[in-house]
Formats: sequence, C-alpha cells, structure tokens
Amino acid sequence: MRAVVVRAFGGPEVLELVDVPVPVAGPGQVRIRVEAAAVNPVDAVTRAGVLAAAGLMEGHGQAGIGWDVAGVVDAVGPRSAGFSPGDRVIGLRDRLDVPLGTYADYVVLDAAAVAPAPAGVPAVAAATLPLNALTADQALDLLGLAGGSTLLVTGAAGAVGGFAVELAALRGLRVVAVAGPADGELVRRLGAEWFAPRGAGLADRVRGLVPGGVDGAIDAALTGVAALGAVRARGSFVAVAAGAAPVGLRGITVRTQWVAADGPALARLSALAGQGRLTLRVAATHPLEDAALAHRRLAEGGLRGRLVLTTGQYTSRT
Ligand SMILES: NC(=O)c1ccc[n+]([C@@H]2O[C@H](COP(=O)([O-])OP(=O)(O)OC[C@H]3O[C@@H](n4cnc5c(N)ncnc54)[C@H](OP(=O)(O)O)[C@@H]3O)[C@@H](O)[C@H]2O)c1
Repeated sequence: MRAVVVRAFGGPEVLELVDVPVPVAGPGQVRIRVEAAAVNPVDAVTRAGVLAAAGLMEGHGQAGIGWDVAGVVDAVGPRSAGFSPGDRVIGLRDRLDVPLGTYADYVVLDAAAVAPAPAGVPAVAAATLPLNALTADQALDLLGLAGGSTLLVTGAAGAVGGFAVELAALRGLRVVAVAGPADGELVRRLGAEWFAPRGAGLADRVRGLVPGGVDGAIDAALTGVAALGAVRARGSFVAVAAGAAPVGLRGITVRTQWVAADGPALARLSALAGQGRLTLRVAATHPLEDAALAHRRLAEGGLRGRLVLTTGQYTSRT
C-alpha cells in the first residue's frame, strides 16, 4: 500500500510517498481502509521537526504523518469489540511514536480511538472532525465553565476555534469570537454572541463587550498574553500548544490542552455532526500523492475549512 512518511525533517518536499506492507490489526485494534485524511497544522510541525525538537517524538527513523481519518473498517484484531468489517468510521491517530499515520491507504488504530462516521456525511467532510472537535471538546471540559458563563475563543474561524464556538454554544456558554475582519458572519453563524476582530488592543475591546472580562478563554490562535488580558481575575485559560501558555497573572488558571483519542466522546461528536449541529468545513481535496502541495497551501494560511487528502478508495458517494 502507499503511505506518506517523513525520514528527514524539513519543508513540504520531505513528504515521501512510499510503498509499505499493509499493516496488521493487533489485539484491541482495527484496520481502516482510508478514504480521506485531513491535513492539520500538527502534520506540518511533525514534518518540520518541531515536535521532535520539543521532545515529543524521536528525532530519527521514519515518522508517519496524519492524525484524522475517515474510511471503512476492513479487518479487526483479537479482542476489538464494537466494530466489524464494512463499518464506516472516523478515528484519531494520537500516537506520535508510530511509523505510519493516516496519510495512507490503510491505517491501524486502537479501537478505542475510533467511532462510527457521522450519518449521511461524505468521508472528506467526516475526516475533518476527530482531531479538532475532540480538542475543542476537551478544552471546554478543562475549563469546566457553567452554562451562562462567558468564553473567549481566538482563532474562531479556524478548525479548533470553529468547533470550540459551536460546542460552547451547545453547552450554553456565551461566546466572544476573535477572528479576521471578514469572519464575523461565519463565527456568528457558528453560535458566537459577540465578534471581536483580531488585532491590537484585543483585551480592551473584549472588555468593552463583557465588562470585567470573560470567565474563560480557549486560545486557538496562540495569542498568549493578548487573550489572557481579556480574562477576568481568577478566570481560566486554555492554551493549545506547548510554549503558548502565558503566565497565569491575576489568579487566572492557565492549562495546556493536548488532545487524547476518546472513542465514546468522538461518537457523541460524530452524532452531532450527523445531525448538522457541528459544522464540517472542507477547503479543498487533494489526492494522497499531492500531500506536499497540500502542505504548501496550508503554510500559505488564510484557509477556511480543512484541506483533505483522498485515496483511490474515495468516491464522491462516500
Ligand atoms: N493541543 C492540541 O491538542 C491541539 C490539537 C489541534 C490543534 N492544535 C493547535 O491549535 C492551533 C489551531 O489549529 P487549527 O487547526 O484550528 O488551525 P487553523 O484552522 O489554521 O486556525 C487558526 C486560525 O487562527 C487564525 N489566526 C491567526 N492569528 C490570529 C490572531 N492573532 N487572532 C485571531 N485569529 C488568528 C487563523 O487565521 P488565518 O488563516 O487568516 O491566519 C486561523 O483562522 C494550531 O497551533 C494547532 O497546532 C492543538
């Protein structure tokens, strides 16, 4: 089968399409025939060696690329309850220490990282759900805000931020969304009560909307102190990248969220997507062999929706 891997860190050109044996599902695992794999910022920083430099993965050997997958179960390992060949699924590869990722014709995942695909949703859209919806959901859990509380979401037009806005609104939170000047309508449609265009003086502008500051923040745009300044004293703040967490001034609790695969939570999010209560956004699709091109497009920024790689298994029906 084909898989995209990295054997030397660097720019998009180091992404190699290689032929490898089809992996075997071990105990507690399922093998998925990949139809679609989303292209996420974590794939770019893995490829560039940033995660290895940060001590999150080894810096030598072969690294698999890709976390998000949508496809069809084609084999189940021993003691893999819950799935059968032919099931349409989505899943999250959240292990960095494996030589193959979801940019491949097949991927083996722990069954506990897999969930039924959202009903009636094409695989390319379904593949945009796992990583970023789980991250947003887990960040909201970490904040633990009660219904009616106010929440700041930076990067609200992005993948993590967009899901954070929608999931927060579903939890009854009142959201201030920070995004580019052209994104106001989008973030309001996702459920934001207020829109604050990104840029200088963010804290004061947010405090103009929510006197005293918001109860919590999810900083999906990695703005650090700029977003922290909008949080009230003894509020809470979630950063989503190593090194992006500001010091918790004014008694603010600052935590860093690192996503974890969670099949039951993913099944709940998948059901919401199937009901149209979570918005799945695809910017464009590229065939697997054009992974480097997709990484170049991601690096250019300004995308709204995710780039998604498709394999030969994908047809517009799926
Ligand atoms: N910790 C975890 O478990 C975890 C999981 C998933 C993702 N992440 C991280 O979360 C971050 C966001 O990921 P993503 O997939 O949501 O990225 P994304 O889709 O590219 O979204 C980021 C958004 O932030 C916007 N932005 C950039 N600077 C901004 C600013 N100063 N103020 C407001 N918005 C700004 C971008 O707009 P433009 O496109 O116009 O620049 C973009 O819309 C990445 O660093 C990613 O690696 C962490």
